[in-house]
This record gives sequence, structure tokens and C-alpha cells, in this order.
Amino acid sequence: MRSQFSKSNTHWLLMLTTAFAVFSTASSYAQTKSASEGIDEYRAMLADGNPAELFEAKGEELWKKARGPKNASLEKCDLGQGPGVVKGAFVTLPRFFADTKKVQDLESRLMTCMEELQGIAAADIIKTPFNKGEQNNMASLVAYISAESRGMAFNLPNQHAQEKEMYAVGKSLFFMRAGPYDFSCATCHGSDGKRIRLQDLPNITKNEGAGKGFGAWPAYRVSNSQLWGMQFRLNDCYRQQRFPEPIYGSDATIALSTFMGVTAKGAKSIAPALKR
Ligand code: HEC
Repeated sequence: MRSQFSKSNTHWLLMLTTAFAVFSTASSYAQTKSASEGIDEYRAMLADGNPAELFEAKGEELWKKARGPKNASLEKCDLGQGPGVVKGAFVTLPRFFADTKKVQDLESRLMTCMEELQGIAAADIIKTPFNKGEQNNMASLVAYISAESRGMAFNLPNQHAQEKEMYAVGKSLFFMRAGPYDFSCATCHGSDGKRIRLQDLPNITKNEGAGKGFGAWPAYRVSNSQLWGMQFRLNDCYRQQRFPEPIYGSDATIALSTFMGVTAKGAKSIAPALKR
């Protein structure tokens, strides 16, 4: 499938150039260099105070606050490192959980904890649009939890049979081309040196690119002042892929994260990062 992709690479580039104004580094080195220098300066200016910190603070408060019909906090939530342990949890997710018998990512695991400990129904959270109600709380929680693992290396276990299965499914989903433009994730994220407008598109099929791409989310997006978790990121990429909207916390999204997270092994997490 990959060799098939590289053969039609030129065709894809042509299509992408017209449709999305993708600039390949091959097009003009000088132009690309000054553009990326400009972007680096812009990022450095922005990094002077990442507003993600506000979400982190709110997330910590939410973690400790008694809420929901059961009026309980999340402090007994087991994110894989034992009940209540937040530090180091983010860099091992998605992983298999014996109580749910499922591989879960950060968001789906949080939904389990919110439902069981606090009585906040997962089905209601799934139905809630991004940037509304409990989804806002979710954004703050993922900001806080990921920040507690900042600088730590990704190390998903990928040992359990279900983890291995999710990795394999995620990998095939990543390369699966479909939809009106016949795009796959790999169309935009499967080769080196791609960019859409001001965004560098890391090659997520490789360790370095997966570290950069997977390891930066949750992230604060300056362009719309929102904090996006990986579930939101994937939802928006499926939109760009012209696929139907994925269900929040669904196995397909967790499988994709498992594939990207395992590929990112050893990369240091910078989440929540600051993005355009
Ligand atoms: C049509 C092109 C396109 C397709 C197809 C696409 N994406 Fe994206 N993706 C983007 C763009 C553009 C960004 C950067 C967006 C931004 O930050 O505003 C991005 C960002 C990302 C990031 C974060 C990268 C970083 O450096 O921060 C990840 C991870 C990601 N996509 C995963 C996926 C996955 C998984 C799929 C398949 C389900 C997919 N993408 C499909 C265009 C695409």
C-alpha cells in the first residue's frame, strides 16, 4: 500500500497543491527556508506564555473537585499508574485496562472515571459538542493530565494482545484511502517535508514525526483560542479528510492514537503544546 502511495505521489502533490496550497520543500528551497524561519519566530513569540497553563490550572481544580450526581472528585481515577496517580500516565496511553477490558486513550479513560466515580454519563459527554459543557471540562482535564508528564518519554506498553490488535487496526486505518478525494491520513502525514499553509506536517509514520505530531497534543490553538485534546485533533483531521465525523472516544480513534503513540516511542512529550 505504501509503495502504491509513493508511485502516485506526484499526482497527489498536484491535487494537494491546487486544493490546499500545499508547499513541498522541493518547490523552492529559498522561499521555504525564509517561510519556516518566519514561522519559527512567530512560534517563539507565542511561546512566551502558553495560555494552555490556564486550562492546566482549571483541570487540576476539576480533578480535585467533588462533582456530578455522586458528588465525588476524580482523585481515585486510575489512569494506568494506580488510583489517583497522574504523573507519567499520559505517556503510556492508550493502553489496556483490565476493569473495562478495553484499550483506552486519555479521553475515553476519563469518561470511564467520570461515569463510575462521579455519575456523569459517558453517553452524554459523547453527545456534547466540542467547546460546550462537559467537553470544556474535558479539555481542561486533558491539559492538566498531559502537563504532568511534560518532558517524559512516550512508552506505551503495547504488550497485551488487545493493545497489539489496536496498533494493527490503527496502522491500517492510517493508510486506508477512501472518501470523495480518496485521502488517507498518510496522504497528508505519510511523507517528509509537507506543509499546509503555515503548518508543518510531520511524517507520522516515522518515529521522529510521530513524536512531533502525536507528542504535541493536547495543544492550545492560538488561531481560535481553544484547547484541543487528541480526540478533537482527530475529529478535525477526519473533516479535512472528508470522512464522516468519528464518534468521540470510539475504538477507531483509539486505534489511531495507539498506532501513533507506539510509533512515537522514546519521544519526549511537550503537551500541551502551543499551535498556530
Ligand atoms: C487533508 C490533509 C489531512 C489529512 C487527510 C489528515 N490530516 Fe492530520 N493534520 C492536517 C493539518 C493541516 C494539520 C495541522 C492543523 C493545525 O494545527 O491547524 C494536521 C495535524 C495533525 C496532527 C498534529 C500534528 C502536529 O504537528 O501537531 C496529527 C497527530 C494528525 N493530524 C493526525 C491525523 C490522522 C490520524 C489522520 C487520519 C485520520 C489525519 N491527520 C488526516 C491535515 C490532514
